[in-house]
Amino acid sequence: MSNKMRTVGCGKITQQHLDKEVQLAGWVHRRRDHGGLIFIDLRDRSGLMQLVFNPETNKESHQKAHELRSEYVISVVGNVIRRDEQTINPSMPTGEFELVISSLTILNTATALPFQLDTAHEVDEELRLTYRYLDLRRKEMQQNFALRSKVTCAMRDFFNNEDFYEIETPILTKNTPEGAREFLVPSRMHEQYVYSLPQSPQLYKQLLMASGMERYFQIARCFRDEDLRADRQPEFTQLDMEMSFVNESDIQEIIERLIKFVFKSVLGKDLTTPFQRMTYEHAFSLYGSDKPDLRFDLPIHDISSLFATTDLRFMRQVLDNDGKIGALHVQGQTFSHTELNKWVDRAQKIGARGLLWIRIKENFVVDSPVSKFLPNNFVDQLKTQFPTLAVGDVFFVIAGEYKVAWDLLGKLRLLVAKEINCIPSGEFNFAWITDFPLFEYDKKDKRFYAMHHPFTSPEQDWHDKAPETLNARAYDIILNGVELGGGSIRIHDRKTQQQMFDWLSLSTQEVQTKFGFLLKAQELGFPPHGGIALGIDRFIMLLTGSASIRDVIAFPKTQRGYDLMMNAPTPVQENVMQEYGMKFIKKED
Ligand code: AMO
Repeated sequence: MSNKMRTVGCGKITQQHLDKEVQLAGWVHRRRDHGGLIFIDLRDRSGLMQLVFNPETNKESHQKAHELRSEYVISVVGNVIRRDEQTINPSMPTGEFELVISSLTILNTATALPFQLDTAHEVDEELRLTYRYLDLRRKEMQQNFALRSKVTCAMRDFFNNEDFYEIETPILTKNTPEGAREFLVPSRMHEQYVYSLPQSPQLYKQLLMASGMERYFQIARCFRDEDLRADRQPEFTQLDMEMSFVNESDIQEIIERLIKFVFKSVLGKDLTTPFQRMTYEHAFSLYGSDKPDLRFDLPIHDISSLFATTDLRFMRQVLDNDGKIGALHVQGQTFSHTELNKWVDRAQKIGARGLLWIRIKENFVVDSPVSKFLPNNFVDQLKTQFPTLAVGDVFFVIAGEYKVAWDLLGKLRLLVAKEINCIPSGEFNFAWITDFPLFEYDKKDKRFYAMHHPFTSPEQDWHDKAPETLNARAYDIILNGVELGGGSIRIHDRKTQQQMFDWLSLSTQEVQTKFGFLLKAQELGFPPHGGIALGIDRFIMLLTGSASIRDVIAFPKTQRGYDLMMNAPTPVQENVMQEYGMKFIKKED
């Protein structure tokens, strides 16, 4: 870290500097006055170092040190000495030493801060985002970005060693269907026409395979105008890759090696590969999700058969309409009635019409709001399905249409797991979810939508099958219950691509204007290919244990899509609109 203004970083002072003169530069982190001496903790990216201004050593610097306030930027020259035994600070890496100052230069001043860096986690996030450059001075944030940089460097090293080409694809482009809305970019040169910002480099990377590049990767910025959440931003970064002449296992295997390499080289951790593989159907039936958190079990049980002869009207209706009854079996807890009823409220908050709880009391007596409607042999039946049944066990039951009920139980599973503290921390649980359905049917629009994107290959031997029964050659990689990445083997022949567009009810005209270039390329020697994209922000969020991807993106947007620091987006002036040939109209509700 040495350069013209400093010889060493604040946090890098060690035994080797003892009794030597060093020059440091950084920010005033903390100031304490003590019986004539002034102590400053000086901070730079590498850490903290204690400075001592002693009037007897250097009167002028001591005098000037009185002016120092939090976040002043200074440069100092001094002599490294060992601290007195009783003032050694073992919690500070440089805590054995201090720097006795012989010269102080104030490089810049700072007015009162809008928030104190040490207590920034307690202030409103909007304030932190307004002064993001201050927020980023904090140690936790610096560590996040140090890790992020190391991870992307390791990814580049890995792909370079595997003979991939890093290729940049356009940002001003055309609609790419990834399921979200696009950001549109008008231009002075093209009145009434717009570019789209890419939701991903999907079509370009496929066309790079048509170009014979064979192995491509990119750390790619993507843009999606969608509702934001803790793990979603309107612009985010993907590790995007594509390979020719591969099948699913080739992609999965190279991604496993990549992640293993990143873990080893950046975190010094050994990961066990291959990762677990689970079909979508299996994941959903057990965990009510296509991205289950597999760090803990707590599966969903189908207990429909226990209610086969029930008189409970709601259950009867569900079963008569081909619905199912699912339950979470929670063991080893002591929930009171009040707590159990709170779970009913929580289930309603996540969208359930209701939640039935059943508790096993002393002597295996059933305790539940519906206990008198349950058959006499209910406990015996429970014991058959749940051989480990014990007094105190609780069942949280939701009945309904399979997808709806299981989705709710999946969400409830996560809430329960958090509440009963059964999620191990510090564990990284990766898995592949495979065999996704190719389509989702939209009852309202009465048409199919691609579950991934319309370039995903249907399962092999799809020809004689009904579209709603088809699986996709798609795979997601999940980490601790978060979708980390998704990819697929793509369609490379025109006939299958045309069939796909037909299934998606796209008109010939629409196909031609939107994807004519792709169909043409598929007639001109397009090799079989496949790939994947990993969300880098989500990956770093999980590696750093951050609560949101905003903590690992240098300048993120708020939940409502604002850049509070720059104040973007901004209104457009009338004369600028003129130049672009644009006019805004009021949106209808
Ligand atoms: P997909 O849409 O699944 O696939 O995106 C891949 C990964 O990108 C991350 N991601 C996001 N991260 C932050 N904010 C967002 N708004 C956001 N949206 C997605 C997720 C996700 O798993 N072209 C395909 C990939 C392929 O088929 O090769 C694609 O973009 O971690």
